[in-house]
Amino acid sequence: MFISRRAVLQAAAFAPALAWLPAPLLASPGRGFTHSVASGDPQSSSVRLWTRFVAGTEPTTLRVEVSEAEDFRSLVAQGTVAASLASDFCAQTRVTDLEAGRWYYYRFLAPNGEASPIGRTRTLPARDVDRCRIAVVSCANATSGWFNAYAHAAARDDLDLIVHLGDYIYESPVDRSDALAELAIARGVQPLGEAVSLLDYRLRYASYRSDPALQELHRTHPMVVIWDDHETANNSWQHGASNHESGEGPWDVRKAAGMQAFHEWLPMDPEPYASYQIGGLATLFRLETRLLARSQQLDIETALAERADIAPAVEQFLKGPLADPSRTMMGQQQESWLADGLMASASDGTRWQILLQQVIMAPTRLPGIDASWFAAGVELSPAQQRELAIANGLSQLGVPMGLDRWDGYPAARDRLLAAASAAQANLVVLSGDSHNAWAYDLTHQGRPVGVEFAVQGVSSLGIEKRFGGDPQAIAQDFVTANPGLRWCDTSRRGYMDLDLAPDAATCTWRFLPSRAQRSTELLGRQTIVATRGANRLTLA
Ligand SMILES: [Fe+2]
Repeated sequence: MFISRRAVLQAAAFAPALAWLPAPLLASPGRGFTHSVASGDPQSSSVRLWTRFVAGTEPTTLRVEVSEAEDFRSLVAQGTVAASLASDFCAQTRVTDLEAGRWYYYRFLAPNGEASPIGRTRTLPARDVDRCRIAVVSCANATSGWFNAYAHAAARDDLDLIVHLGDYIYESPVDRSDALAELAIARGVQPLGEAVSLLDYRLRYASYRSDPALQELHRTHPMVVIWDDHETANNSWQHGASNHESGEGPWDVRKAAGMQAFHEWLPMDPEPYASYQIGGLATLFRLETRLLARSQQLDIETALAERADIAPAVEQFLKGPLADPSRTMMGQQQESWLADGLMASASDGTRWQILLQQVIMAPTRLPGIDASWFAAGVELSPAQQRELAIANGLSQLGVPMGLDRWDGYPAARDRLLAAASAAQANLVVLSGDSHNAWAYDLTHQGRPVGVEFAVQGVSSLGIEKRFGGDPQAIAQDFVTANPGLRWCDTSRRGYMDLDLAPDAATCTWRFLPSRAQRSTELLGRQTIVATRGANRLTLA
């Protein structure tokens, strides 16, 4: 009998602790400016501004003011925007005709005289910019840990932009096995169950956005946000998700609800993919790899169930379904748009082509797992030992670690990297989703074609949730098993920032506490440089 590999990889490390939570709370609509302000989706001459204002059930027309100075004595832009029931009282507008690479202050004023907090935002640089710093965050589960990474980035004055690579919220119920009851209670996470309906998703955003660190990050910096899977449901794809069951209604209804709440609560234009030009320094391509066109994830365990000798079946799987060129992450239209965009950007001399996207692109295999991966004293049952042997066996036969990643769509990845290669791009791929920190060289047909920087979770737990052994030894095992992987950290939370200069893209991962305490104390950092023209990382 084939034993689930997933089971061994999800060895429970945490006991359920939420049984004593109070009965579901009623939604609290609040009054006035309930969730501070936010800005996002900046371009060199415009930016979207956001707030939320509640005055009963009636719509309110808010005045918005933009100034170069915090005293608002002189305005560079002003206008009105409506907060109404139709959009959960979220109000947003794009302010245009701004100057490139400038800080601006903004606020909203209500007819009753109330004023929002003063926000600060920044347009993208243009022309001869020779420096741009981008903080990159992802995977912030409110029941897993504090958002210390958000607080740390919010306090910085040297960042031009925040990029959020998704899992901004999690749809999962608050009593997941690894959730902390005190966090769910302290934050008033709603709803307590899984988010499925539009009301559920709105409540989830409202409770996440009550977090002071997240509010402050939004108030002080513009953000580009993409959704990953948990803005709808775990391992989502075009027509479903592994965490969507038939009793939860039609997938298209749930998908639309998740996307509507996302666009109500985040100041992002409706286009699912877009590009951002940072002068001659970089083009950022914001990709959508989940809900538009993604083919369903393959399941090796189903493919191999009941097979006594798995080697021939694995080979058939790798060469057959996994290699099928019709499988797609982005769909043909977006693939063409990206290929054209890479070519245009590189051929006009733009120094860097940067992808903002969800899942890890580089091939990644699970190393051989042995007793050293577990905390001292942990004894595996005979069943767990058998499961481990199967996980190791599949990995040795060439089955990738995650089929929800680009590894599950190798032909689509090949097309993307071929397009980057044809464009002679200086490609930097930014990824979230994995909850751990990784740095890869990307190759196409044996030649360097780009680099990948993958950010650890803000609070969501990574590999250390499953394996309690020495993280440095586990990281070394990963590097040894994966030729493209140059460095990784499999145990710490935080965020990374990308410092772009004409000839170097420098990525720094910053490690912060999350699960146990609210603190912005930096526990460590790692810096890795990509030199322009090399499409390969330089490790200090
Ligand atoms: Fe995540």
